[in-house]
Amino acid sequence: MNNTYFDTEKKEAFRQALIAWYLENKRTLPWRENSDPYRIWVSEIMLQQTRVDTVIPYFERFMTRFETMRDFAYADENAILKIWEGLGYYSRVRNLQTAMRQVIEEHDGIVPNTKKAILGLKGVGPYTAGAILSIAYQKAEPAIDGNVMRVISRVCEIDSDIMKPSTRKIFETVLYDLIDPIDPASFNQGLMEIGALVCTPKKPMCLLCPLQSFCLAHQNGRELDYPVKIKKVKTKKIQLLSIIVQDKKRILVEQRQENGLLANLWQFPTVEVGANDNREMIKLAFLKKYGFEVELKDALPHVKHIFSHLVWEVDVMTAKITDFIPQEKVKFVSLEEMSELAFPVPYQKMWQSFIEEKGNLDNE
Ligand code: ADE
Ligand code: SF4
Repeated sequence: MNNTYFDTEKKEAFRQALIAWYLENKRTLPWRENSDPYRIWVSEIMLQQTRVDTVIPYFERFMTRFETMRDFAYADENAILKIWEGLGYYSRVRNLQTAMRQVIEEHDGIVPNTKKAILGLKGVGPYTAGAILSIAYQKAEPAIDGNVMRVISRVCEIDSDIMKPSTRKIFETVLYDLIDPIDPASFNQGLMEIGALVCTPKKPMCLLCPLQSFCLAHQNGRELDYPVKIKKVKTKKIQLLSIIVQDKKRILVEQRQENGLLANLWQFPTVEVGANDNREMIKLAFLKKYGFEVELKDALPHVKHIFSHLVWEVDVMTAKITDFIPQEKVKFVSLEEMSELAFPVPYQKMWQSFIEEKGNLDNE
């Protein structure tokens, strides 16, 4: 990277080109209707691990259900998980609720407008802080996510590995210097928008890009050499077996532990199995974990689910059980009760297959 690349004149030209392009080309998105920090905050948390197209309907349902920060901050956990159902990374919504309670209880219900205060909120890291401060409050703070790093690493030919935490500092230095002091909201969203629509990972559309004349990687024909990223570690595979147990019109469900992956969400009873486990070993695993005898019946389609750091390979069977004693977290529920509970995506898929095979539950 050449530190003297952006002299004052060039910086001003860059800002103008970027902001003019953004104002002309920005997508109409529900969180862009106004600059309410509550809405911006919710949208930024949703957008952290999820694509814009997926987020839009979730965001709209969220705002209909929780019109104000107070509505959300004191809603019960099953209600907030239900709204988030399918979005994944559920600790996001729990942290968001904790943080919004902090805002109400420690900041008179006003989302703070300083970096120090906002970074003190649960789940708010440098990216979210920068996004809220710039978009809601027009503070000259960069919002550095993967899209922005891709664009800036290309424009400035930044050769450091973006997976290394220390690399963030380099992007911060460049962006604090480059950010538009008058309209940082448009500047940051312009970079995000270019990352999403123009400067895409595999096929950047340089001929349509407003930053083309500033872009070192483009000038050198090296767009695809950036961002520099070392290969990530292999993900861990976990083999599971889930059972769908039906008793008349009720289904056996279990609430997951209150900590860790998918905490407090609901699922069908599931055990971890070894690659060579036979039926007896599987039965033993259910007996040990749940205290009931299981009789495996029909196989349903296999489900695979990829999390950020591990992969679930789930075999699914219908089953009958005996010696069952209901517990608070393992119980039969009606379909109506079930529809109020939040299930992770792989379990929703199993339920879909079950319903497709069985029709409805009236046959039994
Ligand atoms: N990705 C992250 N934040 C975004 C925003 N405010 N608009 C569009 N895409 C985004
Ligand atoms: Fe990305 Fe090409 Fe634009 Fe450079 S010119 S920022 S590589 S799209």
